[in-house]
Amino acid sequence: MKKNIKYKSISQFEPSFGKEERVALNKYMKEGGWVTEFKKTRELESMIRNYTGSKYCFLVNNGSVSLLVAGLACGIGNGDEIIVPNFTMIATPNAFRLLGAKIVLVDVEEKTLCLDYNKVVSSITKKTKAIVLVSANGRYPSYDISKLRNLCKKKKIFLIEDSAQSLGSFYPNGSHMGTEGDIGSFSFSPAKIISTGQGGAIVTNSSKLAKKIMLLKDFGRRSGGNDVHDFFGFNFKFTDIQAVIGIEQMKKIRVRISKKKMIFRKYKQFLMCNKNIQILDNPLKDTAPWFVEIIAKNRTNLVKYLKNFNINTRLMYPSINSQKIYKCRGDFPISEMIAKEGLWLPSSIDLKKTDIKNICERINDFYYKQ
Ligand SMILES: Cc1ncc(COP(=O)(O)O)c(C=O)c1O
Repeated sequence: MKKNIKYKSISQFEPSFGKEERVALNKYMKEGGWVTEFKKTRELESMIRNYTGSKYCFLVNNGSVSLLVAGLACGIGNGDEIIVPNFTMIATPNAFRLLGAKIVLVDVEEKTLCLDYNKVVSSITKKTKAIVLVSANGRYPSYDISKLRNLCKKKKIFLIEDSAQSLGSFYPNGSHMGTEGDIGSFSFSPAKIISTGQGGAIVTNSSKLAKKIMLLKDFGRRSGGNDVHDFFGFNFKFTDIQAVIGIEQMKKIRVRISKKKMIFRKYKQFLMCNKNIQILDNPLKDTAPWFVEIIAKNRTNLVKYLKNFNINTRLMYPSINSQKIYKCRGDFPISEMIAKEGLWLPSSIDLKKTDIKNICERINDFYYKQ
């Protein structure tokens, strides 16, 4: 072990905001905006619409709320069954559980960590109301997305895309993730491709769902400035302060994505010969990886070893069926394997090539030179 080396602490992820965001915020405050959701929010919605090619976009508080609103718009409630991958962030099942739905967990594919199609088919019942496809780390499933969409159409089931991690990622047919289902959901929390601190977006091409979402977001009233509520709704509004930041982040999205791709390529290059780990691959032509994911032998000791050098990692999600509130047994070999061996390596957008080289050298030392 190279005991003397201590790097400046390398986080698993850090947000990246620049001068542009500071200048834009200053300008906005000087101009006396109302801070709450208004013109800047509309501007960011329009940028996301243009970027993803979706007809409608609504900004909301975060990527958990966007799933909740998606569920409300689809009329999900008590007694409905929702098919959710067993490998995902807890917000995915929780959003639908909050609506009283029963969560049906299904395992994921080994290569993509997206829903296993055959297991989805065998989990559908008369009560299934929606299937939630999570594009894990920007990946699309191995099967064509039209296969899942057609299945949903045939069975009259909603297809909700939880694309929280996937802004900047596209299907091979060129459509942006989140736009192939009935509703797509994005998150702008600090680790994501763009961030507004907290924040989420809902996209849809359905005017019927868009109308419902608009009402749900604003207390169920048809327009602002009055207190007539013909429909049920709540307050899921964004703020222009966040939008000002988001607009600047969106202006830089291409650079941000190319940095993420560079990080991924460098890790692959430096870890290629290490037989003790496997990098979960990403089709970089189409997708923008959010984090670098590895399956690591002897994960616990690797994490400790890297920590000695101030290199911070993060265990990939425990399988949902192992979480106390969803405890159940089932046929989940892939998500359970990821829970045991999956590790997120430092993946901040501003990570330097030299950092990546150092991290990989330490990983290789751990397996081969200790
Ligand atoms: C797949 C997935 N869904 C939902 C969420 C929740 O998003 P937020 O943190 O913005 O509520 C996340 C956040 O990381 C996520 O990764």
